[in-house]
Amino acid sequence: MSTRIYIDGQVTGPEEAKISIFDRGFLYGDSVYEVLRTSRGHLVDFERHLERLQRSADGLALRLPDVAIVRSAIRDCLAAADNEESYLRIVVTRGCGEVGLDTSLAGGPTLIVIAKPLVLPSDEMYASGVAVRLVNVQRTSAKAVDPSVKSGNYLNNILALAEAKRAGDYEAIMCDREGWIAEGSSSNIFLVEGELISTPNLSVGLLAGITRQRVIELAAGLGLRVEETRLLPERLRDADEAFLTSSIRGVLPIALVDGKALRGGAPGKTSAAIMEQYQAFLSRVGQAS
Ligand SMILES: Cc1ncc(COP(=O)(O)O)c(C=O)c1O
Repeated sequence: MSTRIYIDGQVTGPEEAKISIFDRGFLYGDSVYEVLRTSRGHLVDFERHLERLQRSADGLALRLPDVAIVRSAIRDCLAAADNEESYLRIVVTRGCGEVGLDTSLAGGPTLIVIAKPLVLPSDEMYASGVAVRLVNVQRTSAKAVDPSVKSGNYLNNILALAEAKRAGDYEAIMCDREGWIAEGSSSNIFLVEGELISTPNLSVGLLAGITRQRVIELAAGLGLRVEETRLLPERLRDADEAFLTSSIRGVLPIALVDGKALRGGAPGKTSAAIMEQYQAFLSRVGQAS
């Protein structure tokens, strides 16, 4: 079990992996990235993550290395790390250059891949749910750093999470400037009211989570429909159940919103059914030849 990093064409250990202080990823968060996991050594939703990496890069007019290089870097890094299950982070920065905001100063992309042992939330968190808080920090507008771009510029989300942590909660839920719920600091959110499952519409301005999309498809397989819509904070506070999704967490039930317990429990009946479907999906990925 180990952490291995691909950088500058080499796979190394964490101590040897160094980046230039003139790299724009370091200086400005001028980068895009993806995070995913393995299931029995198979990357989960790999092609969807690669597609989103390309969309993020397009959104910032950032040039990616050739996809064959990205694929072989990932393969080499995972093989060298040799973990039972890995967490994988793919980062592409706009590269190094003279200090200055002008993107034409960048010399060309820097590719970094990090493979480390996968650490999931605790069993207790899946069994009893987590606490979330609707925070004052707003999700940036699509006219600023577009939330649909998975960029390395995460200060807004860091501030949102810090606000939730100060209140003793696990995850921050951000709204847009008009007050519509957008997403968590590193997760998407779903709520359940009776038979109805809802999640914020992408048009609010949020990351099109790979797990969010997978959950929408798995819910359909159960004969459940997920409405993508605009949701106000009251809907979440008054919901029967709610859950978070992300590639590393999968489906994580929410027990408390702003300190108040959701009446349907955590996980509630519907959340538990979706958690089970997601687990079955991970098993299918793990059995792929
Ligand atoms: C802001 C934000 N929203 C949502 C997610 C969940 O996305 P995914 O399911 O693709 O991991 C993440 C993941 O890191 C995130 O950073």
